[in-house]
Amino acid sequence: MKFFLDTAHVPDIRKAAGMGIADGVTTNPSLVAKEGRDFIPLVREICAIVDGPVSAEVTAEDADGMVRQGRDLAGIAGNVIIKVPFGQEGLQAVRALEAEKIATNVTLVFSPLQALLAARAGASYISPFIGRLDDVGHRGMDVVEQALDVLANYDLHSQIIVASIRHPLHVLEAALIGAPIVTVPPAVLWKLFDHPLTDIGVARFKADWQGLQEKLR
Ligand code: G3P
Repeated sequence: MKFFLDTAHVPDIRKAAGMGIADGVTTNPSLVAKEGRDFIPLVREICAIVDGPVSAEVTAEDADGMVRQGRDLAGIAGNVIIKVPFGQEGLQAVRALEAEKIATNVTLVFSPLQALLAARAGASYISPFIGRLDDVGHRGMDVVEQALDVLANYDLHSQIIVASIRHPLHVLEAALIGAPIVTVPPAVLWKLFDHPLTDIGVARFKADWQGLQEKLR
């Protein structure tokens, strides 16, 4: 399973990239707004750090506007992916951008049928939002599982990115169903490192080693 970082926060992206676990990055207008920085230079900086797809979202509401923005964003770097909100305008933009060999990521997907439509429009990536579904009492991971089945049934090659991840169990569940990509907020990614037995083990090794050094002195 590939790990994308769901953030526009450069220090976290650098840290994960330094460990080889930033296969890509997904941003959205809310995540960019949190950074309080200009969008274009921020995307350029992220693209230079990560050797993989970096999603940058369009904000226009009509297909023509999305295509124009998509072309501009795609000009920032070779690894920019144009994130397009699901909808009738969005899928027209996806079709047009993909026809120009500009890769897209359809976002705000909440059902397997939306995923099927996005795949038929030719999206390179599709992002079901599982946390937001869980929030309203629907099982987000069921949508991912069904979307994977539906795409496989018709040999459609869009890649599913499991998005709106809220906690480590979401990551585990995604891995157990064989999801190809999970996009993880840094706060969740760093939690995956934590285990009390690892901490206890490290402390014990350190204490035993120090004990030996004292004995040998
Ligand atoms: O990649 C989508 C993600 O950023 C949405 O997450 O937590 O706002 O539902 P969240």
